[in-house]
Amino acid sequence: MATPVRTTENPRGTDSNRMTLARHILESQREHPRARGELSVVLLQLAFAAKVFSHALGRAALAGQLGSTGERNVQGEATKKLDVFGNDTIVDAFARNELVAAIVSEEMTEPRQIACGTRASYVLCVDPLDGSSNSDVNGVVATIFGVYRPPRDVGAAATVERLQSGRDQVAAGYIMYGPSTVFVYTTGSGVHGFTLDRDIGEFLLSHPDIRCPQQGPYYSANLANVPEWDESTREFIRHLAARSDRAYSLRYSGALVADVHRILLDGGIYLYPADRRHPGGKLRLAYECAPLAFVVEQAGGSASAGMSSVLDTPFESIHQRLPFAAGSRDEVAMFDRFIRDRC
Ligand code: AHG
Ligand code: MN
Ligand code: MN
Repeated sequence: MATPVRTTENPRGTDSNRMTLARHILESQREHPRARGELSVVLLQLAFAAKVFSHALGRAALAGQLGSTGERNVQGEATKKLDVFGNDTIVDAFARNELVAAIVSEEMTEPRQIACGTRASYVLCVDPLDGSSNSDVNGVVATIFGVYRPPRDVGAAATVERLQSGRDQVAAGYIMYGPSTVFVYTTGSGVHGFTLDRDIGEFLLSHPDIRCPQQGPYYSANLANVPEWDESTREFIRHLAARSDRAYSLRYSGALVADVHRILLDGGIYLYPADRRHPGGKLRLAYECAPLAFVVEQAGGSASAGMSSVLDTPFESIHQRLPFAAGSRDEVAMFDRFIRDRC
């Protein structure tokens, strides 16, 4: 009788030895002998919320969850039903436990203090639904998170007022809801990406140790805003577009995370500069720019606010905005040179 072939893979193609997000987070935690495991649970709770949201997004058109609520958020932007659902999903995941002291969200005018979190070390800053204009057309959307540990008095909870800059982040990342749902995170030891296996409900390691190429073939910016930009930014984009070797292609989806994710993997530059309508930039520092800057820099890329560092920008208010560029070191350095040389 023939000996049965032994395989580590089961017939459905999932391998029980695969690296799960939970295992990866716990193994990373062991590299920090003084860690007490609280940050690990915060990340796992975010992954749980992401699974809930991913499931809801897939059914949103059938469940009457597309479209706007008719309200506007603190930024004056029309609120989508999915903005509210995403925000509620995150708040629910953290409201009745002691994991974080407060949540700052694009969709909440004021920080949400968490009653159980009176001794918690962390503040969670989140953009629950990034790229909301894509949500009604079945485009890619995302959740962005930054987990901050602001300085605090011994034994006291972290407070939003003590947030100093993006350097207070101890973890950051995003969940991208596209053809597959991908969880990308850093705790300061590289950047790792996990894809949701919907059959078994687990995020499995699919993109270990992501490295952003030193230079790359894409630029990503809303070129409809070119007339609103300052001359140095216009010249930078003209310079990229005019290359006779056609070194660069344009890619712009309208979802910050989707555009930055491409740049992170394939290289190039993402740009949302200041313009006449947004003289301080459009993207928000605490829950858009700083988390993505932490991720991109951990992957060996760069992030810039033009004349200054994204991660060192002092926090003045929770919804403050910033001009933002991120991606490959060469292209970001080139952008900085264009800005500097014309100042
Ligand atoms: P949000 O959907 O969270 O409000 O973010 C929208 C952001 C970002 O996702 C995207 O890159 C950018 O705004 C798109 O802005 P434009 O439509 O001005 O290009
Ligand atoms: Mn956003
Ligand atoms: Mn949003």
